[in-house]
Amino acid sequence: MQLSDKELKEKIEKLKNKLSVTVVAHFYQRDEVFEIGDITGDSLELATRTRDDDAEFVLFCGVGFMGQSVKVLSPDKRVVMPKIASCAMAEMINGIEYDDAVRRLNESGIKSENILPITYINSNAEVKAKVGEMGGMVCTSSNAKHIITTALKEGKKILFVPDRCLGQNIANQMGLESCVIGDGSDLNESDIICFDGFCSVHQLFTVDDITFYRKKYKDILIAVHPECDPAICDASDFVGSTSQLIKYIKELPADQKVAVGTEFNMVNRLRPNNTYVLSSTKPECPTMNETTLKDVYLTLKAIDDGAPINEISVDEKTQKWAKIALERMLAL
Ligand code: 13P
Ligand code: SF4
Repeated sequence: MQLSDKELKEKIEKLKNKLSVTVVAHFYQRDEVFEIGDITGDSLELATRTRDDDAEFVLFCGVGFMGQSVKVLSPDKRVVMPKIASCAMAEMINGIEYDDAVRRLNESGIKSENILPITYINSNAEVKAKVGEMGGMVCTSSNAKHIITTALKEGKKILFVPDRCLGQNIANQMGLESCVIGDGSDLNESDIICFDGFCSVHQLFTVDDITFYRKKYKDILIAVHPECDPAICDASDFVGSTSQLIKYIKELPADQKVAVGTEFNMVNRLRPNNTYVLSSTKPECPTMNETTLKDVYLTLKAIDDGAPINEISVDEKTQKWAKIALERMLAL
């Protein structure tokens, strides 16, 4: 028998009250899943706030690297995910591809001791561990500029993985030289050398979309996430991470129109009026959308039955170095 959302929510609430579980949901989750979150936020908020939470289980509604980050920072917690959905960008680089990127820099004459690697939090634990072992750290889209400013003080070349757009957007904001490995540039000429990864959801926005909205509504503002292409960010009025976008849009006067270039579910619930999705296609993250209320219910039920499903585990060495890379970021 198919249960309605209302019935599923009641069953979920009952199990939440009975079990030592905190339900965590990223801003990009479907509305009905987002609504049952005890802790909601962007990827950094979720990783840090769950660290201070004392429930035995964290039930994480998001994508794989986010659940892994919670496990890495809090190895004693049991982290389960209703769906082990992958972030397509995080999947673009694994340990072998990371080593290959370092080798490309070495072949250009940049010695490993002169490379400071920084990985966007949208990467798997294996890559975070490689970065940690090389003396580098993690960043998020909220703190990337601050982390890179601090890192540059070491006078090294920055290897930025996996998101070429975030790396290049930050370089542009800071007036630094950047390139993407394989784009034909001389790597020695760049301060920030980016791996060629990207988010396909944020690639959906085009300069034509911006032109369309600016023509349609004279004083409209354009606000986008830094995973968008540099050409989109340059043509926008505001570029910010998930939480920075939320703050910016919520503080706008009620009659100010804004078109937003980021994930659909989040934009949709931001502000009742005068807020538009900056795309004619629906920019939904397919994997973020995989988690349903039924999945959450079944995951809670499995805990109640004493046989948790989809539990995240990270081997000891990876956990150690990935934690160091994450903690270097948190210390800054
Ligand atoms: P946040 O770090 O802002 O939560 O974003 C994660 C993400 O996947 C954006 O596409
Ligand atoms: Fe990954 Fe893009 Fe989805 Fe964010 S929106 S989780 S970067 S695929």
